[in-house]
Amino acid sequence: MVRDRLKIEIETPRLRLRTPLDRDVEDIVYLANDVEIARNTTGVPHPYSMTHGAAFLAMVNLADPDVDLPLLVEHKQLGPAGMIGLHRRDEPWSEVGYWIGRNFWGQGLATEAGTALLDWAWRIRGDRAVSSGHFADNPASGRVLEKLGFLYTGEIRWRRSHARRDPTATRMMIRLL
Ligand SMILES: CC(C)(COP(=O)(O)OP(=O)(O)OC[C@H]1O[C@@H](n2cnc3c(N)ncnc32)[C@H](O)[C@@H]1OP(=O)(O)O)[C@@H](O)C(=O)NCCC(=O)NCCS
Repeated sequence: MVRDRLKIEIETPRLRLRTPLDRDVEDIVYLANDVEIARNTTGVPHPYSMTHGAAFLAMVNLADPDVDLPLLVEHKQLGPAGMIGLHRRDEPWSEVGYWIGRNFWGQGLATEAGTALLDWAWRIRGDRAVSSGHFADNPASGRVLEKLGFLYTGEIRWRRSHARRDPTATRMMIRLL
């Protein structure tokens, strides 16, 4: 059980994963306000305004970290780079979700953050499995999940994104820890 989200700090060679704070709002808005992030996630509106950022941080402060644990992906040299999180919905395991700001793409940061978060979930929280899903037309995220050791379950769910008109085929994956 994780009682105090402010004490969670996960270090990797290049990154720190930590709870986003009020002072991070401008960086989060700057990074998240990108239609390619909105199109490929279920929870990021577009355009992403300061109002969205403030509402997001208010949600973070109220959430039970065993149910919703969003963490800022902070580059140790360059500052905030994206978000990653574990979210428990209808299943007995959490689902991992993430986005990385466009300027940081292609440097292995999503994989580095995901590897560390899965390791933390297993060692500290005792999780035994984590699921995820990516839109079928987003192979980059599928590749990240494969690199993290996820396997396709074969299940397709139809999920909505704020930046798409219709529900989108989502390829579900699972990783045993
Ligand atoms: C998907 C995303 C998280 C990747 O972040 P990143 O830090 O660039 O990821 P990494 O560098 O760790 O790995 C990306 C991998 O995808 C591969 N890739 C990139 N574009 C690709 C494409 N069009 N088709 C297939 N693979 C692709 C890269 O080559 C790399 O794999 P490799 O190491 O084997 O070469 C980032 O692009 C993003 O935030 N996109 C928008 C939001 C999103 O998709 N979130 C995930 C929702 S499920």
